[in-house]
Amino acid sequence: MKRTYLFAWLVLVSIPLALMHEVSTAAEDPEVTRTRQHVEMLDVLYKTAIVLITDKYVTDPSIFSGASAAKAIFDTMNEHGYHEVRLVGLTDTLISPGLNKPKDAFEEQAKQKLLSGESTHEEVVTLEGKRYLRKATAVPVVMERCVMCHANFKGNEGAIGTLVYTVPLIE
Ligand code: HEC
Repeated sequence: MKRTYLFAWLVLVSIPLALMHEVSTAAEDPEVTRTRQHVEMLDVLYKTAIVLITDKYVTDPSIFSGASAAKAIFDTMNEHGYHEVRLVGLTDTLISPGLNKPKDAFEEQAKQKLLSGESTHEEVVTLEGKRYLRKATAVPVVMERCVMCHANFKGNEGAIGTLVYTVPLIE
């Protein structure tokens, strides 16, 4: 008799516990949510800077481009150990194909997704025991002036590039 009670009690307690576990594993990891918000903030910052530089200063094709300036900033942020950002071209005609073409499977997947109309692509990866959010966001031809140096962008209304972030998860 006692054993039956114990069994019933165990079953009653374990059902809600199992359900709670189900809910907590289904909910998103707060570290991922936080890091995604951080990347969204960086994306607005970097894209605003590139557009402003291009609009206000880059009046001639011989002038140091917004892309070149942004890449110098990305290098500095990487050297300081904050995060990695890459400017990747998604068209067949790149100014710096050696540096700016997709370099790994994630960037190739991002290229396919963004070219098919998605605005972002992301995954969480573990590198040497540390977790990172990798996220690619679309770069469209935001202004007519882009065509001054990238003739092949003319008339392209989709994504012609992407910023690819690799950011350590914020604990
Ligand atoms: C003054 C000329 C110039 C203008 C204007 C310009 N770019 Fe570029 N762009 C460059 C140069 C130079 C590079 C290569 C930079 C490097 O890799 O160091 C580049 C690289 C890129 C790349 C990476 C792929 C590639 O071709 O190497 C993308 C994407 C890109 N630019 C998008 C844009 C967009 C969007 C605009 C308009 C907001 C724009 N560019 C305006 C000169 C320009």
